[in-house]
Amino acid sequence: MSESIYIPKTANREEIYKEILPQIIALTEGEPDITANLANISAILKEALQFFWVGFYLVKNNELVLGPFQGTLACTRIAKGRGVCGTAWEQKKTMLVEDVNAFPGHIACSSLSQSEIVVPILKNGEVVAVLDVDSDKKNDFSAIDRFYLENLCQYVSTLF
Ligand code: SME
Repeated sequence: MSESIYIPKTANREEIYKEILPQIIALTEGEPDITANLANISAILKEALQFFWVGFYLVKNNELVLGPFQGTLACTRIAKGRGVCGTAWEQKKTMLVEDVNAFPGHIACSSLSQSEIVVPILKNGEVVAVLDVDSDKKNDFSAIDRFYLENLCQYVSTLF
């Protein structure tokens, strides 16, 4: 297993996504342990894209439970339909929230969080986890983030 990844020195997120996705696949496809893989994927996304908070919540006993992440302390359990994560789970679709303060029911794990994108990870049509990315800037996520993070999550679903 490679112990380091190549991160291009650019502020262009699309270039970074294009560079890291094949490396994420190479790093994780031979490793059967889901916790190990989600932990390394969180670490790579944090290091490469400098996200404020990035991590996974896993569906366990009909709740989202905090999984591997990088960032500050986070809430551990989220009910279906609650907050941005619970809404992405319930609706089985990506939630891109430009201003979390304007999102009814947003769960503020950190008062610094200003915008957020949550992508559901589906296996056989059911959500098994969500990828949650938070920014400390308003309006920090675009269709580019949505496209590449959805691609990533399609791959991540094969790891479950
Ligand atoms: N803000 C999320 C909760 C998770 S933390 O941001 C890490 C939500 O509203 O679902």
